[in-house]
Amino acid sequence: MSLIKPHGSDALNPLFVYDTAENEALQKKAEGLASIVVSSATAANAVMLGGGYFNPLTGYMNKADALSVAKSMKTASGLFWPVPVLNLVKDAGGVKAGDRIALKDPNIDGHPILAVMDVEAVEEFSDAEMAMMSQEIYRPRAEEAHPGVEAFNSQGKICISGPIKVLNFSYFQSEFPDTFRTAVEIRNEIAERGWSKVVAFQTRNPMHLAHEELCHMAMKRLGCDGLVIHMLLGKLKPGDIPAPVRDAAIRKMVELYFPKNSAMVTGYGFDMLYAGPKEAVLHAVFRQNMGATHFIVGRDHAGVGDHYGAFDAQTIFDNEVPAGALKIEIFKADHTAYSKKLDKVVMMCEAPDHVKEDFVLLSGTKVREMLGKGIAPPKEFSRPEVAEILIKYYQSLEK
Ligand code: ADX
Repeated sequence: MSLIKPHGSDALNPLFVYDTAENEALQKKAEGLASIVVSSATAANAVMLGGGYFNPLTGYMNKADALSVAKSMKTASGLFWPVPVLNLVKDAGGVKAGDRIALKDPNIDGHPILAVMDVEAVEEFSDAEMAMMSQEIYRPRAEEAHPGVEAFNSQGKICISGPIKVLNFSYFQSEFPDTFRTAVEIRNEIAERGWSKVVAFQTRNPMHLAHEELCHMAMKRLGCDGLVIHMLLGKLKPGDIPAPVRDAAIRKMVELYFPKNSAMVTGYGFDMLYAGPKEAVLHAVFRQNMGATHFIVGRDHAGVGDHYGAFDAQTIFDNEVPAGALKIEIFKADHTAYSKKLDKVVMMCEAPDHVKEDFVLLSGTKVREMLGKGIAPPKEFSRPEVAEILIKYYQSLEK
């Protein structure tokens, strides 16, 4: 049985150096090279490139590719790609085209070497180009601060481009040994399990009942053999729940409420962009690379604040992604919530006779407030075992 093809090539081409002897030799050589400590976003890009998630890219984009991708979701040579993959710095420190350099990890003490890069170009973006890119990638509402735009602009305007070889997976493998997976590993596991129709679920949150039921609905309606819950393990904005807590809550939910062997609990090492629609498209690309045939996009996918309309991350697939650009199919979900009338979670559009009061709807702020006070949200909103883990976390913050 053959799995869905990766994006842009017949076989997955991860940039991690798998041969141990070659990896060690490269590591040794890299210690003698000029080096730069990269931004967290650049390090996360290396981890994604290393694991095959950003197939078929071979490294960081140059200026022409980045501008073209930001504007029209394709590289200068025509490859469909939703978001520039960049190594931006404030100061190139004398690095020039033709150099081989070591990229050091900003997220680990002592800044160990993460990757080796063959520099093809060192170019600078103008202020207008930076503004165009942040506008096109993040599409922020002008009147509100956007955490993704802030992170993007904090890196610098100098773009160091070229192919890389990745030597490790930063802190993700050591901190999340049971959950961090590369696209290669997920593909292999899907093949081993013999799954042919596989739906992926993106999340940066613990999963409440509406999320859980959304996954059950997608699996049932699509006739899937399996679900891959794929959580973001990288950096989030302040106030979001840390990965170990989300991981524990999701694992508990799967253990208790999913049939055995129907769901894989996994994660990937990337910082959240909060880029809504464009991030949803990037999410779809890398879920195809890991072997998923379907991808769930629900309400306000990868959104933040009021920057996006609730379903902008769905309409981008209809209006802006060219037909045939992706092989993965999108499962578009309406707002899911518990119906008091029907006694189950439903998609709100499928209960047209309901009024708002017929649903159990709680805001994120309200839920956090309850959990912080040690109060479990109603069982129509959250599984008690999930609530228990979240209460422990919120109460630990008070101490
Ligand atoms: S995200 O930033 O990773 O998208 P979150 O973890 O909250 O945030 O959402 C994961 C997925 O579930 C996204 O596809 C999102 O659109 C979807 N989702 C979350 N809550 C709901 C809901 N109540 N109704 C429909 N879809 C939802």
